[in-house]
Amino acid sequence: MKFFVDTAEVSEIRALAEIGMVDGVTTNPSLIAKSGRKMSEVIAEICDITPGHVSAEVTATDHDGMLAEGRYLRDIAKNVAVKVPLTEAGLRTCRALSNEGTPVNVTLCFSATQALLAAKAGATYISPFVGRLDDLAQDGMQLIADVVQIYRNYPQLRTEVLVASVRHPLHMAQAAKLGAHVATLPPAVIRQLIKHPLTDRGLEAFLADWKKTGQSIL
Ligand code: E4P
Repeated sequence: MKFFVDTAEVSEIRALAEIGMVDGVTTNPSLIAKSGRKMSEVIAEICDITPGHVSAEVTATDHDGMLAEGRYLRDIAKNVAVKVPLTEAGLRTCRALSNEGTPVNVTLCFSATQALLAAKAGATYISPFVGRLDDLAQDGMQLIADVVQIYRNYPQLRTEVLVASVRHPLHMAQAAKLGAHVATLPPAVIRQLIKHPLTDRGLEAFLADWKKTGQSIL
């Protein structure tokens, strides 16, 4: 399973890359706004330190505008994936960019049939948002199960399921059990995944016993 980091904070990406947790990065207009930086500069910097795709989202809402922005964004670096919303113009742009060999991440997906359309339009990734569905008392993870199953039924569809709007470790565990290809995680959730109270307690006990020996390894 690939781990993408859902942030536009370069220092966070760098730190998580050092422990091997960054296969790719996703950004969106809200994350770029939070970074306070110029989009083209921050995307170029992130692409430089990321081995896989870095999603950069268009902000136009019409096809011509999305296509122009998408072409501009993909020219920033070889590993940019252009992110488009799941609208009719977004699907048309997805098809056009994907015909040009540009990877596309179709975002803001909230139904299994939307995911099917994105795959037909040639998306590299579909991003179903689990947390935002949970917020409305709908089962976000059921959507992942449905999309994974539908894509498995039609192996000619090459789109990868990228679980988005991940809010906590349970989302991650469930997404992995369902066989989603990718999850994009806020840095704080990756850190939550590292932690376990029994690890902390066990380490404390080992170190206390080690101290009694009076030895040092080096
Ligand atoms: C994914 O690409 C989105 O940027 C992100 O996962 C949205 O998460 P949120 O619902 O927590 O804003």
